[in-house]
Amino acid sequence: MNLRNIILPVASVLLAVACNSGSGSDANPVYKDPSAPVESRVKDLLKRMTIEEKALQLTQWHLGANDNPNNIITENDATRTLNPMLGSVIYTGEGSERRNLLQKRAIEETRLGIPIIFGYDVIHGYRTIYPISLAAACSWNPEMVRKCCAIAAREARSSGIDWTFSPMIDVARDPRWGRIAEGYGEDSYAASVFAAAAVQGYQGDDISSETNVASCLKHFVGYGASEAGRDYVQTDISDQTLWDTYLPPYEAAVKAGAKTLMSSFNLVNGIPGSSNDHTINGILRGMWGFDGMVVSDWASVSQIVTQRFAKDNDEASLMAIESGVDMDMGDMLYPESLPKLVEDGRLSIKTVDQAVARVLRLKFELGLFEHPYAPEYPDGSNLLAPEDVRTAEEAANETIVLLQNNGSILPLGDKVRKIAIVGPLAKDGTNMMGSWPGHGHGDEMCTIWDAFSSEYAGRAELLYASGCGFDSEDAEGFRQAVAAARKSDVVIACLGEPNTWSGESASRAFIDLPAPQQKLLEALHATGKPVVLLLVNGRPLELRNAVCNAEAVVEMWQPGIAGGKPAAGVITGRINPSGRLAATFPYTVGQIPIYYNRRHPARNGTMGYYLDCTVEPLYPFGYGLSYSTFEYGEITLSSDSIARDGSMTASVTVTNTSDRDGMETVFWFVEDPACSRVVRPEKELRHFEKQLVKAGESRTFTFEIDAMRDLSYVDGKGERFLESGEMSIIVAGRKASFNVL
Ligand code: GLC
Repeated sequence: MNLRNIILPVASVLLAVACNSGSGSDANPVYKDPSAPVESRVKDLLKRMTIEEKALQLTQWHLGANDNPNNIITENDATRTLNPMLGSVIYTGEGSERRNLLQKRAIEETRLGIPIIFGYDVIHGYRTIYPISLAAACSWNPEMVRKCCAIAAREARSSGIDWTFSPMIDVARDPRWGRIAEGYGEDSYAASVFAAAAVQGYQGDDISSETNVASCLKHFVGYGASEAGRDYVQTDISDQTLWDTYLPPYEAAVKAGAKTLMSSFNLVNGIPGSSNDHTINGILRGMWGFDGMVVSDWASVSQIVTQRFAKDNDEASLMAIESGVDMDMGDMLYPESLPKLVEDGRLSIKTVDQAVARVLRLKFELGLFEHPYAPEYPDGSNLLAPEDVRTAEEAANETIVLLQNNGSILPLGDKVRKIAIVGPLAKDGTNMMGSWPGHGHGDEMCTIWDAFSSEYAGRAELLYASGCGFDSEDAEGFRQAVAAARKSDVVIACLGEPNTWSGESASRAFIDLPAPQQKLLEALHATGKPVVLLLVNGRPLELRNAVCNAEAVVEMWQPGIAGGKPAAGVITGRINPSGRLAATFPYTVGQIPIYYNRRHPARNGTMGYYLDCTVEPLYPFGYGLSYSTFEYGEITLSSDSIARDGSMTASVTVTNTSDRDGMETVFWFVEDPACSRVVRPEKELRHFEKQLVKAGESRTFTFEIDAMRDLSYVDGKGERFLESGEMSIIVAGRKASFNVL
């Protein structure tokens, strides 16, 4: 990387004087006139810029490095001499002070005074950390996702961040891939709904407001199909699957008004995501009409050379910008290459100007020319508002999934007087924050120990022992844990993963509990005391050998600041669990990829099944237990046929047959038993609805079906179609058929 571009090149300033050919007087240029239309301001400013200034506007550098512990951690010495003409900076500082200092240099020390846009990975919270997205999806509550993203936006913008690299909306069906933690699970429709909710939460109605930030859909596209669950690798995706599975969340979020996207590291059928003309210019811009800004992923432009697609950095830059990647993150190639490429006639200045216009348009829309500086809160009074921390806890409450409850051992209620809280996660805060901790403080997360201490204050005695490390033996801790279990009425085994075992560059070939944890669990269970396995993890795990060593299994994911409170609430009974899995838990890693909406095999019955293993997962998509019991009536349809441009209503009554109020999510699937254009999966989620059903009461859940929206499919060219003929609606194993006319 060439530092020359980081220090302000004097030559370009001299050259620029001659370029001042914009409209309006130089004392009051149009681009500085807030009353002028944005397009006029963009055009005026563009005319005034040199090619060097344009190339810098298309460049994002960083102050420090991003927070993902798995990521490339590079302290760069450019921080001290950062070029204030850079288009964007990844800002990892806490609070606006340093950001404002740098912004002041951009406004006052540069010829045109173009403000910098400051970006950061606010993935599930800025300081008030809420559950990882995979957990949030298990809540089946998009409104809660929107509310949490709105909190994150407000905290981020008031801390100097204008743009978040979120939501991550890559559909993932391989739990070996660490980044499954960051997305909304295995289903494309669900991810589409949550993606739109996140965009609305981050951006609100107006991104110039000081409570909103620009969102960034990532990683476009197909990253979740990473081969064998490894990271940064090939994804081999048929056109049909690209349209069926990986594109819909992006289309939904673009429709929801997302301002930017991030191009991905992975190869998409042999072509890098960050130089893929087909997906970016062809689909995103050409078919969907998106004219917002596309930023590359970190160094993914220079990686085009590493991936053996470009022969050198100039070619990589040319490929990237011509495929529609406007801004280059983190490798400073554009300032080096673009002026040369234009001068040599290899790159049209029109292409450069189009990209710069998208960057400038975003800055005008964010209001950065009028309000370049962020408010400063030295006392941190803009963070951790009590009502926000409460919202984060309410969100986490709905993400807890009760996976097993043998003998209805849960809820514990007041049945216990002595509880052993053991395991590497029992008194842990940091790992509750997941792989993108933002500016969360580990010591602000409520540990599982603290949560039980407050749940059972004065009602039960708690005993603690670490038991073991995440993947290391601890003989003394082990002994103490078994001893604590022997003295207790019930054991809470707090096991799972540290936050560095999921997220970026965190693939795992073995996704069961590491041997020390499995050995501890078996020893605890061998005491004969009832064991509750409480899991803190960022991916579906392989649990078949774990669940037989516990009476109950509670999946709490990585909940953020609420920490152990929601799970403790579920285990004691204060909360009735309502989480349902948004990603399948395999019976064995040998089944991967395994997901619910598979296509029917050519043979019926068990032909083609594994000789040595079931084809069923341990826990399927949509699974989760409740303390209530729900009975479903039959599906009723408002008609037995639907016109292709028509609509109809499907409804089902759900009765809570228990004595406990409970939240129930009804999943509505669509089936096309004979689709002559392309075979459809056996069932596909097209609607979901979550409601509180009070004890003994019945509630009606409805699906207002719009034929083209809910029953149509897209083929491998992205062409939407709806065939006439029989189709069915499936809910909880019940089916109602109808005819499409
Ligand atoms: C990382 C990640 C991306 C993140 C970016 C900036 O490599 O792939 O998700 O937003 O860099 O930190």
